[in-house]
Amino acid sequence: MNKEKKQFDGNIFLIGFMGTGKSTVARAFAKYHAMDVVEMDERIEERNVMSISDIFKHRGELFFRREETELLREIGTQKNKIVSCGGGVPMREENVAEMKKSGKVVLLTATPQTVLERVKDGHNRPLLENNKQLETIEELMGQRKTAYEKAADIVVSTEKKEALEICQEIMEKINREG
Ligand code: S3P
Repeated sequence: MNKEKKQFDGNIFLIGFMGTGKSTVARAFAKYHAMDVVEMDERIEERNVMSISDIFKHRGELFFRREETELLREIGTQKNKIVSCGGGVPMREENVAEMKKSGKVVLLTATPQTVLERVKDGHNRPLLENNKQLETIEELMGQRKTAYEKAADIVVSTEKKEALEICQEIMEKINREG
């Protein structure tokens, strides 16, 4: 099925705002290209035996951010992983450096309207809880835009596309980049 054969055997880090499709694309990509998925939020939840919301509440955001950096260092010693990063990962320069050491950084994008539609029924995103409105999403997205774009080797919009199409586009761009 995959028109574009995988040549690259490093890690692929999917970054982007909450609700841009990182988890869905990571799962599809793993299936098509025989890679292992690392869902960062899930790993951190497992390690702490606590939901992301409870980690923020009981241990604080800084603790969570340190957990992210620690996990990225571990992933950096591995290969052939497709990593669904938490939305805040590219905001630390050391995280970006860590990702670039072992792989390619792929920024997934979507409009604030689409993000709202995708996140509105969830309750495990402490930064948006009680704040699920367009203005909040637009504001936070605006604050992060520059860091996201600076971190990215490749940018792919997930707007009105099927997962398979997005996976093909990512692989084509990675192979083209070399
Ligand atoms: C966050 C995004 C979340 C999660 C945490 C913080 C952020 O991950 O890591 O709630 O700072 O943008 P997703 O982007 O997978 O929702």
